Amino acid sequence: MAIEIEQVSSPVISLSKIAVSETHGEDSPYFAGWKAYDENPYDELCNPSGVIQMGLAENQVSFDLLEQYLEKHVEEKNSGSFRENALFQDYHGLLSFRKAMASFMEQIRGGRAKFDPERVVITAGATAANELLTFILADPGDALLVPTPYYPGFDRDLRWRTNVNIVPVHCDSSNNFEITLDALEEAYKEAESKNIKVRGLLITNPSNPLGATIKRSILKEILEFVTRKNIHLVSDEIYSGSSFSSDEFVSVAEILAAQNYKNSERVHIVYSLSKDLGLPGFRVGTIYSYNDQVVKTARRMSSFTLISSQTQQLLASMLSDKEFTENYIETNRERLKKRYEMIIDGLKNAGIECLNGNAGLFCWMNLSPLLENNTKEEELVLWKLMLHEVKLNISPGSSCHCSEPGWFRVCFANMSEKTLELALRRIHEFMKRRKHVNGFSLQ
Ligand SMILES: Cc1ncc(COP(=O)(O)O)c(C=O)c1O
Repeated sequence: MAIEIEQVSSPVISLSKIAVSETHGEDSPYFAGWKAYDENPYDELCNPSGVIQMGLAENQVSFDLLEQYLEKHVEEKNSGSFRENALFQDYHGLLSFRKAMASFMEQIRGGRAKFDPERVVITAGATAANELLTFILADPGDALLVPTPYYPGFDRDLRWRTNVNIVPVHCDSSNNFEITLDALEEAYKEAESKNIKVRGLLITNPSNPLGATIKRSILKEILEFVTRKNIHLVSDEIYSGSSFSSDEFVSVAEILAAQNYKNSERVHIVYSLSKDLGLPGFRVGTIYSYNDQVVKTARRMSSFTLISSQTQQLLASMLSDKEFTENYIETNRERLKKRYEMIIDGLKNAGIECLNGNAGLFCWMNLSPLLENNTKEEELVLWKLMLHEVKLNISPGSSCHCSEPGWFRVCFANMSEKTLELALRRIHEFMKRRKHVNGFSLQ
């Protein structure tokens, strides 16, 4: 910081409870890894021995398609006149954008679900959507159930400003970390025993960090569970278009349609363009709720977190161009699948197994054979070694609240193929060294 401000120690000027609370979730290896990357980022020419960022679920594999589209169309399809964009925007957002977003959400679900533009609430990314829904569904002190392992950002998004708790639903590798009724019941019971009121269940489909879609039968069980308990279901489906085939991804919207929208008023879908279109910087997200009161309240609250009119104009025309979106969705899926196969094969050659994935921008890698004592502490020793010796930032399972030590989330779509090859070579050499030195042990 360029301007130094003298910090006078007394009297201390106090800040709000939220400002000083620890629930911001940033004291995590997930964010520490990003920092280590920022301090020494890999660059093929300028810093070839730097850290490769494999802790960021960003999708850069189809940028060329977006750039081509923008080059061709941005002038002629105008992204709104300056005056139009500069004027006051109310919290409904542009109807043209909501229509385009609803139709894109249908398209990536293979046309098997319908979305009404009147139910689309716009938000600055899924981050804002998840927080906003938490504010609406739960009171301070209440809880949301969240299956583990989960996206580390939830610790901040669901808890920090809302003062709502997360009660983990522990899933494990014995069934590929699938959500089970037993695990849901157990988590619910645990909350009850602590006198914590559970207001909802938040699932990520396809799961981050697992890179696997949730099966139709499990989704149905989940819906029955939330109905039985009379709680809400939030389905964060921001990776829906990154499933490698449209048939494998089942949206909760499809299940609701099949049951004539029975019990749908407790269901809310979160979606954003950060992952499928690779546009996290545009901050484009939505809440799609089947509950009129939630739609109304979310719209009002979205005043705090709108999307700029210029961005809405630009994306409304892009998402309405069916020729572009069809080609994009298909090509993006093929490219992500190819990347996934490349990393899985590379890791297999290095002697590392991964969870069977079919979606997303990451794979879930099992390094537990390298741990002697299978503890979280040892997992973090290994994570540091990967960061400082192998120069790869990957996310340890403990940062995702995984109950089994030794699992790591590895992102593969935020870099070029060449960089991914280098990352795989680094892992291969590391594994060879470990095997040679002491049969994998970290000691
Ligand atoms: C499951 C999940 N939800 C929400 C987000 C935040 O997305 P956005 O950039 O749209 O705020 C992420 C980002 O990594 C995520 O993985």
